Amino acid sequence: MAPMSENFIFFFLLTMATCSSVIFSASVIEDLNTLHPPLDFNSTISKNCHLNPSLRYCSASPMDLIEIFKSSIVASHLCNESRNPNCVESFPKIDLRSRPKIAPLYLSFHFFWKYCPLSIHSIDLSNNSLKGSFPVDVLECKQIEVLDLSRNELDGEVPFRIFSDLTNLTVLNLSNNKFTESKMSDLELFFKRFNSSSFISSGLLPDHRKYQMKAVILLFVFPILVIVVVWFLWWLCFHRPDFLPRMLRRKNKFTPAMLRAATGGFLKKNLIVKCKGVDIYSGVLRDGTEVRIEIYGNEISRESRKEFIEECKILAQLSHKNLVKLLGWCGNRGMRAIVIEWLEGESIDMWLSRSPPPWKRRLKVAKGVLEGMLYLQEEWPGVDYDLRTNSLLLTRKLVPLISRFKLGHRNGSSNNIYKFGVLLLEMIVNPQLRDEIKQGESDFVGYIKMQLPNNLQAVINEDIELQRESMVNQGKAAINLALMCTDQSSGHQPNLKYIFDNVTRFLSNHKMHETEEGRHTRILSR
Ligand SMILES: *[C@@H]1O[C@H](CO)[C@@H](O)[C@H](O)[C@H]1NC(C)=O
Ligand SMILES: *[C@@H]1O[C@H](CO)[C@@H](O)[C@H](O)[C@H]1NC(C)=O
Ligand SMILES: *[C@@H]1O[C@H](CO)[C@@H](O)[C@H](O)[C@H]1NC(C)=O
Ligand SMILES: *[C@@H]1O[C@H](CO)[C@@H](O)[C@H](O)[C@H]1NC(C)=O
Ligand SMILES: *[C@@H]1O[C@H](CO)[C@@H](O)[C@H](O)[C@H]1NC(C)=O
Ligand SMILES: *[C@@H]1O[C@H](CO)[C@@H](O)[C@H](O)[C@H]1NC(C)=O
Repeated sequence: MAPMSENFIFFFLLTMATCSSVIFSASVIEDLNTLHPPLDFNSTISKNCHLNPSLRYCSASPMDLIEIFKSSIVASHLCNESRNPNCVESFPKIDLRSRPKIAPLYLSFHFFWKYCPLSIHSIDLSNNSLKGSFPVDVLECKQIEVLDLSRNELDGEVPFRIFSDLTNLTVLNLSNNKFTESKMSDLELFFKRFNSSSFISSGLLPDHRKYQMKAVILLFVFPILVIVVVWFLWWLCFHRPDFLPRMLRRKNKFTPAMLRAATGGFLKKNLIVKCKGVDIYSGVLRDGTEVRIEIYGNEISRESRKEFIEECKILAQLSHKNLVKLLGWCGNRGMRAIVIEWLEGESIDMWLSRSPPPWKRRLKVAKGVLEGMLYLQEEWPGVDYDLRTNSLLLTRKLVPLISRFKLGHRNGSSNNIYKFGVLLLEMIVNPQLRDEIKQGESDFVGYIKMQLPNNLQAVINEDIELQRESMVNQGKAAINLALMCTDQSSGHQPNLKYIFDNVTRFLSNHKMHETEEGRHTRILSR
């Protein structure tokens, strides 16, 4: 038997080289360092090869005598470590299972594996926490029938190709390692020889549970995720674009969901006014801006809705300190609304009737209204507006704001001046007068015209307290100016600039008188 005889010769060589007591007293490392081949080693090897040419070292060329000698030293130690019953006669198995301290050492002797003794049939290196890639050297023992590398931490790829040379291998165990998952084609070849119990948790087989997870993810989780993401994006874009970054948002456009959120779900306590067709809410936008939201209840046609949106688009561009700022609109089929900046204040109507404001304040308010009108005339001649005292707002700081707009006709300028005339009259004359003549603006204007020129003082609101002659004259001049504005018939109507200059002059004259008066009182008090 070839392996037997090889072993015999093998150990014969060793006993020739050194006495056995020396060999088995030192460690393998020490022996490798200290022992040297005997002088006749060359001839012994040659003789062996002559007798049995199949010996592995015989085929090596050129023959490295030192390596062959060293490998015989390693073999003798390894045979003993593997608890073979009679190492002098045979070396059938390498059994280094659960020997993590020495297994890596023996694996590192490349020359040993290169001349792997033909007698070895079984190699067990299991349970050693071996790290790194597959120990390819082991496969030099092509004759083996059993190879167990289980319970290690080997990683990387398994050299399937080399295995095809190991024709006698019938038991293989690569379980419990960390190999990389291999190609199915390689595994199929392997499965013809070994079954799945050779690869339990080896990393080589696609993990079934992983597969199942993948399938579940692909079939259920992924579509659900897609649906959720799509739904979320849809919700963001069409319902709550206020959650989008400012860049991506469409400016001025509000959705019903945004308005619902701003008003706390259209809470009753946020409802300010509910009048025919319009619900006015106070609300807070997501960025904290306080707003006034006007929701129109009436159904309108598609065309009108388009017009409404176009109108809002223009009105949102208006920007002046005396105009209410339109922040945006909602032109959905389900809801039509506009969103206006929130104003703490009251209408001019309320202001006039609450506590009679002094003359100077009234002039200032009129001047503010005129500034707004001038801006609109110059920049937005197509925009019409309302100048009734109940639609003009006053902020806490008494800045007047034109709050109602309409895309009107270009020929509205004469009308606007008329409206301002009426406004000015209303701000000067007795409030009772207006209430008494309830028929309308033209009657009201006509009545005042009838008081011209002598009776004017009678119509001036006595609460204004025009103490001095100069102020009374100013009041009269203001009424005259207002009446000029209301005269649409004869081309006497002044233009806005003229009116503005006059009101500004009233104001500066008034201030001048005030300072003079102040000086007087100061002189007197000295
Ligand atoms: C041989 O093996 C036995 C146990 O198997 C051990 O006690 C002994 O130290 C070994 N000798 C050498 C030289 O390795
Ligand atoms: C060993 O012997 C062979 C012939 O048997 C010879 O060719 C070779 O050179 C020798 N090598 C050494 C290192 O002596
Ligand atoms: C693996 O080796 C450890 C010691 O390294 C030992 O405690 C354990 O029992 C071994 N397990 C098996 C299954 O041999
Ligand atoms: C397999 O075993 C047979 C019989 O023991 C032997 O002849 C053959 O060389 C072995 N194959 C390898 C690859 O060592
Ligand atoms: C795998 O093969 C071995 C023999 O090589 C056998 O004992 C074992 O039952 C087989 N296992 C499976 C799951 O087929
Ligand atoms: C391989 O080793 C594992 C333990 O690591 C064991 O469960 C399995 O049965 C072994 N397979 C074979 C074919 O011996």
